[in-house]
Amino acid sequence: MHVAHLSLADFRSYARVEVPLDPGVSAFVGPNGQGKTNLVEAIGYVSTLGSHRVATDAPLIRLGAERAVVRSSVVDRARTTLVELEITAGKANRARINRSDNVRPKDVLGLLRTVLFAPEDLSLVKGDPGERRRFLDELLTARAPRLAGVRQDYERVLKQRNALLKTAAMARRAGGGKGADLSTLEVWDGHLARAGAELTAFRVRLVDALQPLVAQAYEQLAPGGGPTLLEYRSSFEGALPASREEAYQQLLEALQAVRKQETERGLTLVGPHRDELGLKLGELPAKGYASHGESWSYALALRLASYELLRADGGEPVLILDDVFAELDARRRDQLAELVAGGEQVLVTAAVPDDVPKALRGARYAVAGGAVDRL
Ligand SMILES: Nc1ncnc2c1ncn2[C@@H]1O[C@H](COP(=O)(O)OP(=O)(O)OP(=O)(O)O)[C@@H](O)[C@H]1O
Ligand SMILES: [Mg+2]
Repeated sequence: MHVAHLSLADFRSYARVEVPLDPGVSAFVGPNGQGKTNLVEAIGYVSTLGSHRVATDAPLIRLGAERAVVRSSVVDRARTTLVELEITAGKANRARINRSDNVRPKDVLGLLRTVLFAPEDLSLVKGDPGERRRFLDELLTARAPRLAGVRQDYERVLKQRNALLKTAAMARRAGGGKGADLSTLEVWDGHLARAGAELTAFRVRLVDALQPLVAQAYEQLAPGGGPTLLEYRSSFEGALPASREEAYQQLLEALQAVRKQETERGLTLVGPHRDELGLKLGELPAKGYASHGESWSYALALRLASYELLRADGGEPVLILDDVFAELDARRRDQLAELVAGGEQVLVTAAVPDDVPKALRGARYAVAGGAVDRL
């Protein structure tokens, strides 16, 4: 698939901009701070309803404006879909698909599939476990939009269960050890285990599927530098579940086993929100040990593996490479260019024209002063 047109109003630094796009490679080039990342961030937003840079929508709205509008026409196997999103700070977003109002924003998920690599991705390797969980969950959602609902269910149940545990913990302290009524807790255990098991089982399978692809991508980017190893680590003891049913039973048992600690601490202590995706390079964990260049290659390999996985599912995603080339030496640059040059649509940004490798010849756009001009 590819984006044939992007139109922004009051998004980030752009008052208004219209960007016609072709399949193949497009490079956005311009000095720092001119709005290159803002453009690809908008495309990423249409794909995931989130930004790769910020957790809330407010920064996406141009300073002084009330709402931002992102329109994009997405071509997937000769079918064009017009996706429009209106982003209003502190309020629910509104969506239109092919000019129909009768849709929810989450219906947009799945219409445009993208894989975006940006400097922020270094935190996939160096950051907290939450970054890696989000990586897995976003990829799951890209492959099966229905799982966005499972994620939401899990978050909601977790919040309510935590609230119940917190109240119980406070009552226990106030009552000198005598706890509050926890009869409803078992019901919440069931809800948590059901949504949690589904998420866990999908994640475990995803990690298996990613394993060889990450190893291959890393080897291509940094020959002889591996091997890489991904390890899904559960928040409780025991073998990884082979099925959703097994995950459900395990999680229920684990909840029972930590019941006492949970009611003391007022917090849900096991479940996918506490699982970790371990990344190893050779014998060592990447986090805390890998060099800057190794971490960068690892993060990029995770994204390239995601790209290959989505590609294999059918309906080629749009690949977005924000500012990657400046970080790579000439050899790695050419290797990466060769890897991605055949993609249906590849969007790259660079501050310096010479940073874009020759193999990625395609359309060039100059980005400066709030305008985007095709050269
Ligand atoms: N909500 C907003 N309203 C107005 N301007 C904004 C908003 N958000 C970001 N900007 C401006 O957009 C600019 C950053 O744009 P962007 O990150 O796209 O730059 P870039 O071209 O990718 O630069 P670099 O080469 O450094 O990565 C900054 O000058 C910032 O002040
Ligand atoms: Mg940028």
